[in-house]
Amino acid sequence: MTRLSVNINKIATLRNARGGNVPDVLKAAIDCERFGAQGITVHPRPDERHIRYQDVLNILPVITTEFNIEGYPSKSFMDLVLKVKPHQVTLVPDSPDVLTSNAGWDTVNNESFLKEVIGEFKKNGIRTSVFIETDEKMIRNAVKTGADRVELYTEKYARDFPNNREKAIRPFVEAAMVANEVGLGINAGHDLDLNNLKYFAQHIPQLLEVSIGHALISDALYFGLENTIQLYLRQLKD
Ligand code: PXP
Repeated sequence: MTRLSVNINKIATLRNARGGNVPDVLKAAIDCERFGAQGITVHPRPDERHIRYQDVLNILPVITTEFNIEGYPSKSFMDLVLKVKPHQVTLVPDSPDVLTSNAGWDTVNNESFLKEVIGEFKKNGIRTSVFIETDEKMIRNAVKTGADRVELYTEKYARDFPNNREKAIRPFVEAAMVANEVGLGINAGHDLDLNNLKYFAQHIPQLLEVSIGHALISDALYFGLENTIQLYLRQLKD
């Protein structure tokens, strides 16, 4: 079954808006797990406008499921991940000022860079995943970087889903078949929500994990965090 990793960056964004400790990010991480999430994802950015580096250090000892840290492998990010040693690191090619991740890796032009950083993570027993679009060449080349998994960047799927879901899913199914063929595990994320998640999970062969933040935390305003997590888990089960 596909695992649900909840990205708690939005909780930190809300907290940071007031400067205190409400809502409590650590409590939210613990509660997400208590309510059924099978993993916690954080994406510390260099300006710490969402999750702070200190949050990442604090979360590690309090959670019991999979910890996934996403980000661009800058020196400070690498130092943090190597200190924390999460189960998984997901590498994204973000420049520091982007609002949210907006592209997958060019695994051809960045092959040697990725190989070097992935080698460092693997030496420390950390599973690695690279954020990627559906381009076959980029997926095939991801193998050469040594990555264990790819995370399919699902923004285009989510955008096209309301108009034509068969067309929206097609490149992702093809990409997943290539990843399966070359032995890369498959994760996915970005703009997945209660409308589009089930169809995605039903059509992607061997989808190991989805990481979901924005829509899930927004839904929690209406349904509450516990119900919301249960609703997302149900999309992955049915
Ligand atoms: N995967 C990656 C690499 C991301 O950067 C993000 C957003 O931080 C997500 C997944 C989750 O996307 P969303 O917040 O739209 O669910």
